[in-house]
Parts: sequence; C-alpha cells; structure tokens
Amino acid sequence: MASRLSSLLDFKTISQAQIESLFLFAESLRQKNRSPRGNGEAIILAFFEPSTRTRLSFEMACQRAGVGPILFDGGMKTSLEKGETIEDSILNMAAMSPAALVIRSPDQVDLHKIVADIPVPVINAGWGSKGHPTQALLDLFTVKSKLNSLAGKNILIVGDVKHSRVANSHLELAKKLEIHLGQCGPQGFLAPEEAIHTFPSLQEGLRWADVVMALRFQFERHEAGAQFSKIEYKNEFGLNAISLKSLKKTGLILHPGPINHGIELETEILSDPRCCVLEQVHNGVFVREAIVRILLGETP
Ligand code: CP
Repeated sequence: MASRLSSLLDFKTISQAQIESLFLFAESLRQKNRSPRGNGEAIILAFFEPSTRTRLSFEMACQRAGVGPILFDGGMKTSLEKGETIEDSILNMAAMSPAALVIRSPDQVDLHKIVADIPVPVINAGWGSKGHPTQALLDLFTVKSKLNSLAGKNILIVGDVKHSRVANSHLELAKKLEIHLGQCGPQGFLAPEEAIHTFPSLQEGLRWADVVMALRFQFERHEAGAQFSKIEYKNEFGLNAISLKSLKKTGLILHPGPINHGIELETEILSDPRCCVLEQVHNGVFVREAIVRILLGETP
C-alpha cells in the first residue's frame, strides 16, 4: 500500500492504489490462509445497531487474523441502560487499548471527532445512513472477482438510494474507481448526486447495467405516512424473473442484505446463476480480514 491506513470511516483518504492493493490482499487471503498474528491483540466490535453479516464476518475476520474479537452488544445489558452515552462508551473502550474498534452506530454519533480524540484505529461498520465502506468494498471485490475488472462497468442501484448507507459509500467509491453508477426508484428515494444517472424505469436501467444492486426497503428510516406502498414498489422496482430478462446474461445481481423477500427481490432470484448475494457475504470475511490486518500494520 502506498501509505498506511489509520482508520476507515469513509473513502476520503484512501487512494485507488490502496483499494487495488486491498483487493489483491483479500484475494490472497481467500486463496490461501496467512498465519494468524498471535500477538495477544484484541479488537472491540461495538455494535449500537442490529447486524448479522457485518458483525459475524468481522468476528470471523478477526479470528482468522489471530486477533481476539470482543463483542460489545449495544442491545444487551450494558451501562447504556444506565444512561451512558454512546460517545462515552466508545471513549471507555478506547481507554482499554484495543488494537482497533469496529463501530456500528447511528448518524448522530460523530465518528470523525471520536477518531480525532482517541489513539485507536476505527473501522466504520455501518454509520446510520452516512456510509458503510466495508460493504461497498466487499460488493466491488465480488464484482471484480466475477467480471475481472471494475473500470467502466455500469452498476445500477435500485430502490431506496437516498436512505442507504451502502449507496452513499458506493457514490463515494465509484468516483475513485471509474465506475458508472445509475439509479432508479420512487421519487423521493433518489440521490440528488450529479455523479449518478437516473433511469426513468427499471427496464431501461437493467438494459444499461453490468451489475444490478437491489437495496433493502428501509422501513425503519421512513417517517410514518411517507412510505411508498409496498405493492407499488414491488410492481415497479422489484427484481423478479420477468424484470430480470432485461439484464444481460453476464450481468450480476447483488443485494447487501438483509432482504425483504417479495418486495425488492423475489426469493426465486436467489437461485438465478447471476445472483451473487451469498458470494458477497463469503467475500466479506476476506475483505474485512484484509482491512483488519492492514490497519494493524501488516503489508499485503
Ligand atoms: N449488509 C449488512 O450490513 O448487513 P447486516 O446489517 O446484517 O450487518
């Protein structure tokens, strides 16, 4: 890597060369185990919002790297119940000198301030609707593995782009990697971003795309009454055997999970040979292992 990563909150300070090096490292970890570090290091996984894939794959990644993962589950009995703030909780975790902190938190937490205040590397594991950089990296690692390259590829993001931290990270990353992003979805769900082309219909977007990524309809991030009807959404933007006839045979179908079956994606699509949903999850372990090892000072 050109220069060492100190934390990973977003893609502002990571170069294209560093991303390519990270992908090569993840590929080598996927092909062949690297020795565990065995330095008695520990990483605290602090999850203040629910997670299955990110949390477990970071636990797997830490185990593979020989770094003890210690889980702080913000939903369980902790001093949060006594009124301790998330920020104070994180400062106290950092005071225990873990090798790094992996944090999933709501938007209100200022992770940039926390990184400035503590001497411990921080990895953003999903930050409200702001960003989810490790998910975007594992998505693109999967695309690169399947299509051999990323530059010039057309990726269509379907659905709730505006509220999606995954989409926000892709908007940031696409600029660095010369990827063309398109979006389609209900009015009010679309990103105002100039860097993303908006398609008036799913069919037009699918005809253009090398990759389609369906996003989860995030019911919990919508104010009551502002929801697009689920039936209308499914009929207009749902990925199913009929709509996906417009996607090329070599196209890829992604979804970051969790899936609302029968809304943004019909269950039958999970067995479409173009679907990479579980491959994304598989690859997430190696991409996160590479990130952990790099942040702890290893060279790919
Ligand atoms: N894609 C993703 O972040 O899934 P989890 O919320 O289960 O971690």
